[in-house]
Amino acid sequence: MKKYILFSLSLCFLICSCVQKKTQNENIDSQNISSGVEWLDTDGNRINAHGGGILYHEGTYYWYGEYKGDSTYWNPKVPSWECYRTEAGGVSCYSSKDLINWKFEGVVLKPDVNDLQSDLHPSNVLERPKVIYNDNTKKFVMWLHVDSHDYAKATAGVAVCDLPAGDFEYLGSMRPNNVMSRDMTLFKDDDGKAYHFYSSEENRTLYISELTDDYLKPTGNFTRNFIDQSREAPAVFKREGKYYILSSGCTGWDPNVAEYAIADSIMGTWTVKGNPCSGTDADKTFYAQSTFVIPVAGKKDAYIAMFDKWNKTDLINSRYIWLPITFKDNGDIDISWQSEWDLEKTFK
Ligand code: DGJ
Repeated sequence: MKKYILFSLSLCFLICSCVQKKTQNENIDSQNISSGVEWLDTDGNRINAHGGGILYHEGTYYWYGEYKGDSTYWNPKVPSWECYRTEAGGVSCYSSKDLINWKFEGVVLKPDVNDLQSDLHPSNVLERPKVIYNDNTKKFVMWLHVDSHDYAKATAGVAVCDLPAGDFEYLGSMRPNNVMSRDMTLFKDDDGKAYHFYSSEENRTLYISELTDDYLKPTGNFTRNFIDQSREAPAVFKREGKYYILSSGCTGWDPNVAEYAIADSIMGTWTVKGNPCSGTDADKTFYAQSTFVIPVAGKKDAYIAMFDKWNKTDLINSRYIWLPITFKDNGDIDISWQSEWDLEKTFK
C-alpha cells in the first residue's frame, strides 16, 4: 500500500511539473506569442518589465520596463482611489533579436535604496519608462513617470546612457511645461524630432510636448489634447504619414475601454476613432491597458500593440498581452483578441 501511494504521488508530481513546464515555456519554444500567460526570459526567470516600451537599435530590440518589487501593498494615505503599490525596483532591460526570446540585461536604472529623498528610492513610484536614441548626441535617453508614494508629485524623470543596456545615469525630474506629468510615452519622428506625451492636469488632459534636440528637456512648444477626457497609458506610432495614439481611460489599475485617435500632425489635431479592440472582452481591453506599439523592423504594416494585464493585488504577477494590429483600407485599425499567434506567419 505504502509503495502504491508513493508511486502515485511521484506520478502526480511528474505530470504536474510537465504541465507547468509547458505553460511556462509556451512563449519561448516557438514563434508564438501567448498573451496573458507567464513569460520567461532566456534564463527561465519571469520577465519583470511592466508599463514598458521597446527600442530597436542596430538589429536588436530592447524592452525597458518597471522592475516591480515582490510584495504589493495598499497605500492608505490615498483614500480617493485603490492605490496599490509595490517597491519601485528601478527600470529593467531585456534584449531580443526576434521579439520572442528575451535575455535579461539587468536593472539599467538602479533604485537608490539609501537616500529617502531620492526620486529613485523604492518607496516612490517609477512607471512607464521609455527609451529613444539620439543620433546626434549618440545617447540613449530614458524618460519615465516619477512620483511620490501617493502620486502627488506628478513629474517626469530623465536618464541617459552611452549604451542601450545601461547603466543609465539619472539626471533628475521636472514638471514639464510647469504642469503635472503622470502616464507617459516618447515618440521619435522620422525627422529625428522627439515628443513627450503625458497625462496632465490631474490626468484630465493629455499634453504633447516637443523635446529639445538633445531630448533632455521640453522646448516649450506643446499642445493640450483630449481635454477633460481623462486619457492614460498613451502608445504612439506612425504609419503611412499618419500618427496613431492608443490610450486607456482613467480607472486606476482596473481595466476599461481603450480608444484610438489619428492625426496628420504629431501635435494634433487628433480625431477620435473609438475602441480599436474586438473579440472576447474587447470592451475591457482584454482586461489590460496599453503601454506601447512596436513597429516590427523590416516588415511593412507590422505593428504589435503591447498591453499590461495588471494584477493589482500582486503587481509583480501582472501579465503581458501583445497583439498584432491590422489596418483597414481607410487606415482604421483593429486589434482582435487571440490567445496565441504566430509572429512569422502574421507578418510575412
Ligand atoms: C493607471 C496607470 O496607467 C498606471 O501606470 C498606474 O499609474 C496605475 N494607474 C496606478 O493605479
